[in-house]
Amino acid sequence: MQEYLKQKQKVNNPNKPIGNIILENLKYPVEKEIIEKIINGEPIINVITEEYGRAIRLLNKTLKTANSIKDIFRVMILPFSVRPITNDPFDSRNLIKIYESETKRKFDPRSERLIIIDPHTEQRMKVDPFFIPTLIQQSLPETDFIISHDGKSEDINKPIFSFKELSITYITISNHKIDVDTVYNFILPPPTEEELRESFENLIVIFKERDPEINLTEHEKARVINEAKGLNLTQAERAMTSLLRFLSIEKKLDISRITKYKEQELLKAGLELVKPIDINQVGGLANLKEYLYKIQKTFEAIRDEEKVENLKEIPKPKGLLLTGVPGAGKSLTAKALGSLLNMQIVRLDTSKIFSKYVGESEQNFQRMLKTIESMSPIILFVDEIEKAFSSGHEVSNRIMGMFLTWLQEQEGLVYTVATANKVNLLPVELLRAGRWDALFYFDLPTKEERYEIARIHLNKYFESYPEDILGFIVDHTENYTGSEIEQIVKELAMETITNKSSLMFEKIKLILNKIRPMAETLKEELEAIRELEKRGFFKANMEVKEKEMINKSGVI
Ligand SMILES: Nc1ncnc2c1ncn2[C@@H]1O[C@H](COP(=O)(O)OP(=O)(O)OP(=O)(O)O)[C@@H](O)[C@H]1O
Ligand SMILES: [Mg+2]
Repeated sequence: MQEYLKQKQKVNNPNKPIGNIILENLKYPVEKEIIEKIINGEPIINVITEEYGRAIRLLNKTLKTANSIKDIFRVMILPFSVRPITNDPFDSRNLIKIYESETKRKFDPRSERLIIIDPHTEQRMKVDPFFIPTLIQQSLPETDFIISHDGKSEDINKPIFSFKELSITYITISNHKIDVDTVYNFILPPPTEEELRESFENLIVIFKERDPEINLTEHEKARVINEAKGLNLTQAERAMTSLLRFLSIEKKLDISRITKYKEQELLKAGLELVKPIDINQVGGLANLKEYLYKIQKTFEAIRDEEKVENLKEIPKPKGLLLTGVPGAGKSLTAKALGSLLNMQIVRLDTSKIFSKYVGESEQNFQRMLKTIESMSPIILFVDEIEKAFSSGHEVSNRIMGMFLTWLQEQEGLVYTVATANKVNLLPVELLRAGRWDALFYFDLPTKEERYEIARIHLNKYFESYPEDILGFIVDHTENYTGSEIEQIVKELAMETITNKSSLMFEKIKLILNKIRPMAETLKEELEAIRELEKRGFFKANMEVKEKEMINKSGVI
């Protein structure tokens, strides 16, 4: 150490070529990111997570893997009882002293890297509010000359070292971002499929000791692991334990135990699992449906790794923006995508993103996006997107920026469907070409579409009904939306319970008088919606003539 101090000037990033070799040989993105930051001399890395145990295991494993490539990382997990900082704000060498005295081992900053892992950061901050500022001060002493408190000059010649020069990286594990430029904040991503598998296999071994009859096929294991995606590791282990316990007692593999648990946990994080509906429950909208079938085929090709003649690569669909008339089936269509693409749908509760604490909204959002990606393949459903992004506030703009970047760059199979009720409130950046695969607007349903919609809802409520009732509803609902037609049929069903004597026609006439179409009062909005065609939006509805022509040409 002393010798090294004398040679301060000669130290010149000795580990760089070795660093490249290590990085090339690491497999997982998490490993690569952490080791890269350590090698680059990042003084403080703050790992943000609620899973302290997992973070320690992961860091240990990563450093061990890196050491197996080149043995240069000296690791110390700091017990709470050891105080890492001294009262001298320039005493960056204290950590080396602690390491050397605890391990009885010499540390050589020229050829080694010292990694201090501190799982007790939060507690230390509680005991000492200046813990982080002091740590930062010690990691990056700003000046080469100091005037000591008593004004004596001896400190002036004292060599000052930064953590970088001493090859130290201090890793804090906490559940908050540390909002200082010189701290690298790293949100621990949700568990990978490999991590989930490893945990599940370990649990099976434990359970097998008690109950040798427990046996799962590879296919069953894959189903369990797939269902656990979206949970953090602690939660996944809890859910998988409950599943195995039930299997041992009831001799039944009940995967819905994981689903239910996941539903609750995701909800807390602002993500709601949405039940998909059948596309046959959506009436009309043939243009949009035709487009959706194309997306369906594309995902099938991606999933089956199909070889498509003359295609070098299959394009990955990104997402869809739906807007237009209220009650026209926008949210309904989004839900139908679940069954069409055979994927789970998760709805983003944008109100859960925003927090009053500085930086925390961004952190929440980033965490949500990572969770969504970990659930891939998945459909992300953002209902009424303008509510999250149209406030114009700085934070909401930043969140939107993050969202747009993510839309473009995310590498998983995540298909985003967003709906917007007030498209004129949306920032233009969100509508720029290339953000979405397609933009669609919903108009009022055509006659044929009203027929399909009324039939869907009549079939839902009635055992049977005269065919001319359907015709009657269709003829009397010009300018009604799908949601209003549904309301008419619902009322009719309710009237059937309370008023058995009168005829269906009489009842409908009364109901039609009560339910007036909202569109009559929304003339301007309707015009604005129809103008969207000029801004690159496709119409979701299909006019009859068009449909007949396509039918004749045999496309549908
Ligand atoms: N095309 C349709 N086919 C069948 N039912 C429909 C259709 N459109 C609307 N409905 C009925 O109306 C209800 C409301 O529709 P939905 O929530 O999808 O409208 P929306 O376009 O999302 O409206 P909003 O803009 O108000 O959110 C649906 O649950 C469904 O019962
Ligand atoms: Mg809606």
